[in-house]
Amino acid sequence: MRIPSSVTNGTSGIGSDTTGEGDYRVADLSLADSGRKEIRLAEHEMPGLMALRAAHTRTKPLAGARIMGSLHMTVQAAVFVETLVALGAQVRWTSANVLSTQDHAAAALVVGPEGTPSAPSGVPVFAWRDESPEEYWWCVERALSFPDGGPNMLVDDGGEATLVVHKGVEFEAGGARSPADLAGSADRRALFELIGPSLATDPGKWTRMAEGIHGVTEQTTISADHLRMLCQNGELLFPAIDLSNSVTMGIMDRVYGTRHSLLDGLNRATDTLIGGKMAVVLGYGHVGKGCVKALRGQGARVVVVETDPICALQAAMDGIQVSTLDDVVEQADIVVTATGNVKVVTVDHLARMKDQAIVGNIGDFDFEIDVAGLAKRQDVQRLAIKPQVDLWRFDDGHAIVVLSEGRLLNLGNATGHPSFVMSVAFVSQVLAQIELFTKTDRYPLDVHRLPRELDEQAAHLHLDPLGATLSTLTDSQAEYLGVARDGPFKPEHYRY
Ligand SMILES: NC(=O)c1ccc[n+]([C@@H]2O[C@H](COP(=O)([O-])OP(=O)(O)OC[C@H]3O[C@@H](n4cnc5c(N)ncnc54)[C@H](O)[C@@H]3O)[C@@H](O)[C@H]2O)c1
Repeated sequence: MRIPSSVTNGTSGIGSDTTGEGDYRVADLSLADSGRKEIRLAEHEMPGLMALRAAHTRTKPLAGARIMGSLHMTVQAAVFVETLVALGAQVRWTSANVLSTQDHAAAALVVGPEGTPSAPSGVPVFAWRDESPEEYWWCVERALSFPDGGPNMLVDDGGEATLVVHKGVEFEAGGARSPADLAGSADRRALFELIGPSLATDPGKWTRMAEGIHGVTEQTTISADHLRMLCQNGELLFPAIDLSNSVTMGIMDRVYGTRHSLLDGLNRATDTLIGGKMAVVLGYGHVGKGCVKALRGQGARVVVVETDPICALQAAMDGIQVSTLDDVVEQADIVVTATGNVKVVTVDHLARMKDQAIVGNIGDFDFEIDVAGLAKRQDVQRLAIKPQVDLWRFDDGHAIVVLSEGRLLNLGNATGHPSFVMSVAFVSQVLAQIELFTKTDRYPLDVHRLPRELDEQAAHLHLDPLGATLSTLTDSQAEYLGVARDGPFKPEHYRY
């Protein structure tokens, strides 16, 4: 497997040397200083995490937890990881996205607040920007390999860590003739090639690892759905908390986070004026609503494409034109996908877009826009304008601008959600990790929701810094509503 020589590994200072070369792999440790400066700035904007550190640093509720995280490797994630460490956990980390890693943040996390590039004392991180599929899965495997065994907790964003463990167990149980035979895409082939060798050298590795895992906290909607499917089929190996359904994180992440970072991505990529342009948003779910708010705030003429009549009616009642993509694709200046679905923008749509139309995805991985299909066409040339911005010129002379090769544009072309939004998401993660790790018996094999009182706590921790003052129910008001004075304040079925 090719690991680029530009990617550095250490020789001392952080845990044992499980690779034989140093127990981390990041792009450049000399970036640690600039990463640390940004981490310090982000800490101020992540008040919920800092409040958890203040509250739990002495009690260390995560002492004994060996947490493997497959999420992103950004400045904000570094504040999250260092909070887990402050609460007593041992952590190994990798990025759930080959393009989203901020190399300076990765370096700072490895070096740690007290370490130096020559004597790092932080967290073993395996991530660098622009990994190949092989490198990506290599990093996942390394992050799963604690010196003293496997992880006992997983933080997952996209289900990849969970997938590796489940596939490993499946293959060990003899579920596959040859793992590589089963791989469809190059991405999956790399995963299966990764698991294959251990079947011969350490046949019980993945089964042992799965048995030691208390549970996973999953951040992504689709992956949480996948966990539920595994559970229904009797294949889920450890309990899960589905954070994608937690109210506070969901609202902040999907609506307000994307409301901010869609514009950030579009502006950094193209700096094209958005006001007055026609922007088509596919999907008027949570993310779509955030995107539409942002685009309308800029004065764009927004058109929504929806398949769900309820969401389509919501869009119409919000005063937005609802059309099919086929009807508007030739007029659109900007097309944004936010459906969580596959190939909602086809090669035919891409070919029909007008000259210089901008197309990007803020929904599901790289599945929504068929960029792979576009690359197969003989009549189109790709011209890289700058990293994550490509002009695709058709033989008839017209061209379109594709952002981040169809991957999440707010991560590829910008830096994802702002710190404050991520503070809410990561506070929910920390509370879920504490819950699963310390109250394991209360969480049988299933996909659970974050208890509502923790959801409310995640919101509460972010009110003070915004100058927001919460009112308190009187006893008689609480009694009248049938809720406890201190919450939970709404029934489970309430839709925020
Ligand atoms: N980029 C980010 O920062 C970010 C943040 C949160 C979530 N997400 C991702 O965004 C995606 C959407 O999340 P959500 O919470 O809004 O989901 P959602 O289910 O609330 O919304 C998706 C909407 O897309 C619609 N849809 C599905 N197929 C369609 C099609 N072919 N054409 C038009 N509309 C279609 C659905 O009816 C639905 O209303 C998910 O993949 C999620 O993981 C991205």
